[in-house]
Amino acid sequence: MDSRLKVLIVGGSITGLSLALMLERVGIDFLLLEAHVDIAPELGASIGLCPNGLRILDQLSCYDSLQEKSQNHSVNNSWYGTLAGRKVKEFEGLGGAVIERHGYPLSFIDRRMLLQHLYDSLRQKHKVLTGKRVVSIVKSDDVAVMIRTEDGSSYTGDVLVGADGIHSRVRREMARLDPAHDYIESASLHAHWACLFGISRNVPGIAKGDVGYVFGNRFSYLLGDGPGDRSYFFLTKRLQKRVFGSDIPRFSDKDKEAFVKPHLDDHITSGLRFRDMYDKRMSSVLVPLEEIVYKRWHYGRIIAIGDSSSKMLPITGQGGNSAIENAAVLTNNLFDCLKTSPQNKPTVEQLDTVFEKVQELRTPRLQKFVTMANKRQAVDALLTPELEEFALTRMPQLQAEVILRGFQTEFGQAASLNMLPVPYRPRTVPFADEQPQEKSKKGDIMAKL
Ligand SMILES: Cc1cc2nc3c(=O)[nH]c(=O)nc-3n(C[C@H](O)[C@H](O)[C@H](O)COP(=O)(O)OP(=O)(O)OC[C@H]3O[C@@H](n4cnc5c(N)ncnc54)[C@H](O)[C@@H]3O)c2cc1C
Ligand SMILES: *[C@@H]1O[C@H](CO)[C@@H](O)[C@H](O)[C@H]1NC(C)=O
Ligand SMILES: *[C@@H]1O[C@H](CO)[C@@H](O)[C@H](O)[C@H]1NC(C)=O
Repeated sequence: MDSRLKVLIVGGSITGLSLALMLERVGIDFLLLEAHVDIAPELGASIGLCPNGLRILDQLSCYDSLQEKSQNHSVNNSWYGTLAGRKVKEFEGLGGAVIERHGYPLSFIDRRMLLQHLYDSLRQKHKVLTGKRVVSIVKSDDVAVMIRTEDGSSYTGDVLVGADGIHSRVRREMARLDPAHDYIESASLHAHWACLFGISRNVPGIAKGDVGYVFGNRFSYLLGDGPGDRSYFFLTKRLQKRVFGSDIPRFSDKDKEAFVKPHLDDHITSGLRFRDMYDKRMSSVLVPLEEIVYKRWHYGRIIAIGDSSSKMLPITGQGGNSAIENAAVLTNNLFDCLKTSPQNKPTVEQLDTVFEKVQELRTPRLQKFVTMANKRQAVDALLTPELEEFALTRMPQLQAEVILRGFQTEFGQAASLNMLPVPYRPRTVPFADEQPQEKSKKGDIMAKL
């Protein structure tokens, strides 16, 4: 497509970079502005990529190269344990079963590796500007949208996509420009958990390809093996009480110290205390875990997607994966809107229809993810006697089949890019949009083989 439309993207993380890559592939012009000077900063975070996100990356020709870069790293076994260092359940070869069923692995890598890879995959690197913090939306009218950055520059486009995370400036600017709607929802945005996460190196006792869950008392661990000598930890703990809106704290180094101290002697495996892992950290961060699916995502020529419109607990690893899906659904609908007359720019009314549709298509799935992650976190933290009984007595008896059926719901309904083929990867469980009755919708099925 050779469209005159120009999309401004605010934020160059998972959502922003994957959207830029999609727009580039379908021939829609863009300019991405990222506040950090470094496009792939080391923030201590890891990311679990799942088949739903990986299939879209595969459509963007990013999958094989990403696997290669991450040394083909993927999850093999998954286990559950108690603080006594006792494994209550092990699912051997769970990762292999996921590949067989869905065509893609569960892949745990450094978040910065993914960002660097998305950036490297872009051809038009001059369209990514770093060290550009957007401070305001100057206007959004019938003609264009204009933004200003901290350094005093301004940029004009036809569409503005906020991919600027949970503390979204774009969302706050929409609230300012459109006082008739509640974009902030300070009575809904809440946090009831906090998470200390980080990356350690050369920790003995986390086996290759393992991902482990340790049940605590109002807290839990998620431990993962990463590429090379890396391993990842997440310690998620219940806050004293649920906090809302602007009462959600930001933590200091002192808070972090106090948070971790009571846990240093936790036996995370039979041979390993948390201290052994924490002492070998390259980096670690303590954050509150916000939860919300915002009701309103857009105003005029502006839409917010990714963490700026929805946020879930990390335990099921769907935040980033679903953000990639969101970018794909936005691309699909923009593309369809332009298809009829690529040389004509869509009107504000047409954009409103596109954005409303994206919000409508995505909201139920994101709400489901928020609920799922919340339930799962409650189980792992043994939050009630019933959940404790479930985690320690009934869960160990579950067959791998039950877990895999859960994944089927999680991955199966995933979105993908309508206009790009899906490379052939053998799988026994097709995605819902690959089912026979859906084939005609995606054009020539042979193109996908
Ligand atoms: C502890 C933890 C573990 C997680 N684990 C997983 C996982 O295993 N799997 C998974 O899929 N997801 C995971 N997530 C969720 C995932 O990290 C997020 O969903 C994902 O990063 C969202 O991407 P985003 O691009 O929307 O926002 P962000 O990653 O928050 O990026 C926002 C970007 O915008 C930039 N920015 C902000 N303001 C401005 C501005 N004014 N101007 C210009 N740029 C700006 C920022 O610098 C940043 O680069 C986890 C989250 C947490 C907290
Ligand atoms: C990754 O897997 C591919 C295909 O199986 C193989 O060709 C490649 O050599 C592997 N790379 C690494 C770094 O292991
Ligand atoms: C996966 O785990 C099984 C069981 O522990 C082990 O036999 C196998 O070698 C592992 N596979 C890989 C690729 O590490």
